[in-house]
Amino acid sequence: MIRFCNDYSEVIHPKILGKLVEVNTGQAGVYGEDTYCERARELIKGLCGNDDLHVRFVVGGTLANLLVISASLRPHQCVISPTTGHVATLEAGAIEATGHKVSTISTDDGKITAEQIESFYSEYTDSDYRVHIAQPKLVFISFPTEYGTLYTKDELQAISDVCKDRNLYLYIDGARLGYGLCAEGNDVDLKFITESCDAFYIGGTKQGALLGEAIVIKNENIAEDFTSIIKQRGGLLAKGMILGLQFTALFEDDLYFELSKHANKMASLVRDALKKKGVEFFIESQTNQLFPILQNGVLEGLSEKYLFANWKKVDDESSVIRICTSWATTEESIGKLIADMEASLEQSGE
Ligand SMILES: Cc1ncc(COP(=O)(O)O)c(C=O)c1O
Repeated sequence: MIRFCNDYSEVIHPKILGKLVEVNTGQAGVYGEDTYCERARELIKGLCGNDDLHVRFVVGGTLANLLVISASLRPHQCVISPTTGHVATLEAGAIEATGHKVSTISTDDGKITAEQIESFYSEYTDSDYRVHIAQPKLVFISFPTEYGTLYTKDELQAISDVCKDRNLYLYIDGARLGYGLCAEGNDVDLKFITESCDAFYIGGTKQGALLGEAIVIKNENIAEDFTSIIKQRGGLLAKGMILGLQFTALFEDDLYFELSKHANKMASLVRDALKKKGVEFFIESQTNQLFPILQNGVLEGLSEKYLFANWKKVDDESSVIRICTSWATTEESIGKLIADMEASLEQSGE
């Protein structure tokens, strides 16, 4: 069975494992105060073009989100997220459990617009019942979105502007940031991400690391006592060096970007092959996640060999699936997948 259901079914990229093996019997500082975390922080700050950033490492995305969001908000304040946002849909109420409502803005493609944020905020400020309503304070978006789509530079700039104008924090979930930055047609870079928001995180778990996310905070209000906040939530790893070391390996020689490009390229081979066969897509994604609409018969034919994520049912005959590629996806496995998909499509007369 080949798993295309997500981008973290493999354990760790060999170069990163090599680094861990290299330092295995040496000693290091603890709780993130070690030379590896320090080096990773330097590398990340350099790539972001800002020496004043605060960089902290945690094990997963849900934790990164709840830490940044709860550190940003006062008790009565809430998050604004797209309806499809990870914090609104797939984190078991982790944000709400910190005491903050997640308010949503509707979206068809995973993105929200500056105009939607402005009108959501105005509705709050114009309301006669303002003191009775959770106060919007932080805008949560992800890059890429849950649907693998990307904000353009102009769209992100407009969101950033409205957030500054309305004194809202902008926080970007970058669980798959590399796939977005390296996508064909993308015009946003890491420096622009850094400039446009108050905090974001760079995903490692879905980008070749064993595990780990690098939280990058620009806004000093959010950064205040952040390490204590991580500790209080149980997120400060005693052996934090294993996180720092992995990000050093990812960023020392552009491995992070190479792996992202590779995964995107593998996805584009599948995209092109399916399009040639006339398959329609639920959404056009430029990154490593694809959302084709396939007949149930076609999927049955493939289910013995491949695992995909069931995204949503379209009707009784067809469904949207998510196909994910990763750093570890080989051309060989993509070749097999394409051949089997083509055969299955032909058999079912699609
Ligand atoms: C965009 C995004 N954010 C956050 C998460 C949560 O990450 P974790 O499962 O490491 O908590 C995921 C996981 O799928 C994700 O896709």
